[in-house]
Amino acid sequence: MKQVINHGVPEDLMDKAMEVYEEFFNLPVKQKENYAEKAETLYTNNPKHHASKEHNYWKEVLEHNCNIDGQDKQTWPSNPPTFREVIGAYSSEIRKLSMIIFDLVSKGLGLEAGYFGKGHGQRMFDNHYPICPDPSSTLGTCGHCDPNLITICQQQVYGLQILKNDEWIGVEPLPHAFVVNFGLLITVVTNGKLKIVAHRVVTNTTQTRTAIGTYFCPANVVEPAKSFVGPDNPPLFKPFKWGTEFLPHYFNNRAVYHAALEAFKINA
Ligand code: OGA
Ligand code: NI
Repeated sequence: MKQVINHGVPEDLMDKAMEVYEEFFNLPVKQKENYAEKAETLYTNNPKHHASKEHNYWKEVLEHNCNIDGQDKQTWPSNPPTFREVIGAYSSEIRKLSMIIFDLVSKGLGLEAGYFGKGHGQRMFDNHYPICPDPSSTLGTCGHCDPNLITICQQQVYGLQILKNDEWIGVEPLPHAFVVNFGLLITVVTNGKLKIVAHRVVTNTTQTRTAIGTYFCPANVVEPAKSFVGPDNPPLFKPFKWGTEFLPHYFNNRAVYHAALEAFKINA
């Protein structure tokens, strides 16, 4: 997990996006629930995807696609009235940033230029964590690894932690920075070379927290890249489709951080 500054996304657009999501979450529950149980744009204050036996989670989530050809905009909230305009501009900027990051990641991993292609999916996960009267009894988000290639996240209030040597360590927000996080699929692409960190979100008693997460997801089949496989490095994972094959395993066992990968291990 890294924080990126000088990323080229205008700071005032980042501020506007944060305001627009906060305004959305401040709407009456009835209005937000117009988006409950929809597939394309989904609001929930009972995040079943994120629950486990051990914890209740203290958050609301708004999820939506952001294909930047404009098609998905029709399903986005129309209130606050600037939502579609601001988030449309924001998603285009984040997409540009994702291209740069994918390029750097390909270079850094020794993959051929353009390995990740241009067709990656883009979906927003906007998490809102209200003030919590008893943060010791609940988490904002349980420990997990992201199920995608990379996540670009905007935060301005503390709450995010990563698991390092069995200890949870805070990721202090830097002003107008993005947190960039690798998802589990990077472990597959690198044939097990890159291990992915688990992260979680804690709540607090004094400030609400909104985090704008953009998930970048593969358009094609996921498999170990050729440059990570050879006579001495047999492939550790079989190829799979992300949405239909991988995600069901992920949502089944999200609280065991790397569990979703097990089903795709060769000789497992
Ligand atoms: C996520 C996530 C972090 C946050 O949505 O995958 O880890 O700060 N979010 O809400
Ligand atoms: Ni995450």
